[in-house]
Amino acid sequence: MILSYTSAKYRKVSDRAVAASNPYTPGQVPRVFAGRAVELRRIEDRLARVVTYGELGGPLMVFHAPRGLGKTSLLRTAQRRADALGFVSAWVACSRERPVLPELVRSIRTALERAEVLPRGGAGGRWRKRLESVTVEVGLPGAKVQAEVASPAPPAEEPMALAPIGALEALLHDTAELVRRRGGAGLLLLLDELHTASADDMSVLLNTLQNLDGARETNPLAVVTAGLPVTPEALTRAATFGERSTFVSLDVLNDEDARRVLTGPAEAEGVTWSAGALDAVVAEARGYPYLLQLIGSSTWDAARPARGDRLSLTQVRKGLPVAREQLTAMHRARWGAATATQRSFLSAMAATGKDNVTRAEIARGMGRDSRAISDPRERLIEKGVIEPVGHGLVRFTLPGFGDFVRRLDEE
Ligand SMILES: Nc1ncnc2c1ncn2[C@@H]1O[C@H](COP(=O)(O)OP(=O)(O)OP(=O)(O)O)[C@@H](O)[C@H]1O
Ligand SMILES: [Mg+2]
Repeated sequence: MILSYTSAKYRKVSDRAVAASNPYTPGQVPRVFAGRAVELRRIEDRLARVVTYGELGGPLMVFHAPRGLGKTSLLRTAQRRADALGFVSAWVACSRERPVLPELVRSIRTALERAEVLPRGGAGGRWRKRLESVTVEVGLPGAKVQAEVASPAPPAEEPMALAPIGALEALLHDTAELVRRRGGAGLLLLLDELHTASADDMSVLLNTLQNLDGARETNPLAVVTAGLPVTPEALTRAATFGERSTFVSLDVLNDEDARRVLTGPAEAEGVTWSAGALDAVVAEARGYPYLLQLIGSSTWDAARPARGDRLSLTQVRKGLPVAREQLTAMHRARWGAATATQRSFLSAMAATGKDNVTRAEIARGMGRDSRAISDPRERLIEKGVIEPVGHGLVRFTLPGFGDFVRRLDEE
């Protein structure tokens, strides 16, 4: 087995001795992060406040967009830049399976240890103990949190769980100060997939940040997050002042940035794109970063270029079936995860043949009253399969999904 693997590898290398390796990253953080200058500047402005004044970098910052538009990539890029500025950064990929806040505290601990910020000896031991006890405190099951600290006191049998807020607040303050004392810029918290956090966790986070803002100049930290388009609504539901977070939506990439997604990684391998090939991929991907990476990758595999080569339109066409197959697999997975009612909703949408579909059109297609379609609509938005585009209109988030559903319905 090992021999045959080795010989296959050897054959491949010898038959194109200088073939460059595929630099595209569909589904992974990109090698070259293209565009998003405005969004990055907004994050950097926040970081600059922490660096320059040693103060809180503004309210919670929330990037929201459907799947595949580059939220995680943006956060990872921000993290790299923050690290270069001397921040200690803690990353949490939120998930419905785990409470978010204990994860956050664990991630802070790892970040502090990696940056060698924790004191040595007994003091370090005390820090570790404290981090452990806060992990427990913020994760206590059933610790129902009062959404608004300022609202009327709850009945005695329902104690207001201020403890997790207080514990987290004190921890964030102390760790951010510690980082600063050790010569760092401050603390950066990055929370991805924030829409999956429970309302209680969101509420504790928002209340904590609000409290830290009360003594802004002594809290050198910033919190940048990302999630699906439901995130702003979920935060506002968790605590009404959640609406004062900074919400920034990510759109598809413009043509110039889309080209850069393709040319950037190739350039690093000494490979270029013909104008025709670039135009074709940009048109096919419609600014959707995942698709750009996917078609870039399939073109590369079809061409297997060496340093100095130029990718052609013929090679784009040769690679397209592989990219389309992958996209169809994603369509199938989304369809497979939908309930019967949601499928009927999706079929009704697809049947219109339009990009943006009204509530009335969907209701008509489903044979229901337009008020009776809210549930599947909300669930599909939450899953990131469709997204609202204003005035009650919705559209599919993944290119080609409408065609996929129409083909299914024809079968
Ligand atoms: N600015 C960019 N430059 C180059 N590639 C990018 C950029 N943004 C995203 N990508 C690519 O697009 C794909 C999707 O990006 P990413 O995973 O960051 O999206 P996402 O919004 O976090 O998606 P999800 O909601 O599924 O987590 C990845 O393959 C990534 O390499
Ligand atoms: Mg992501």
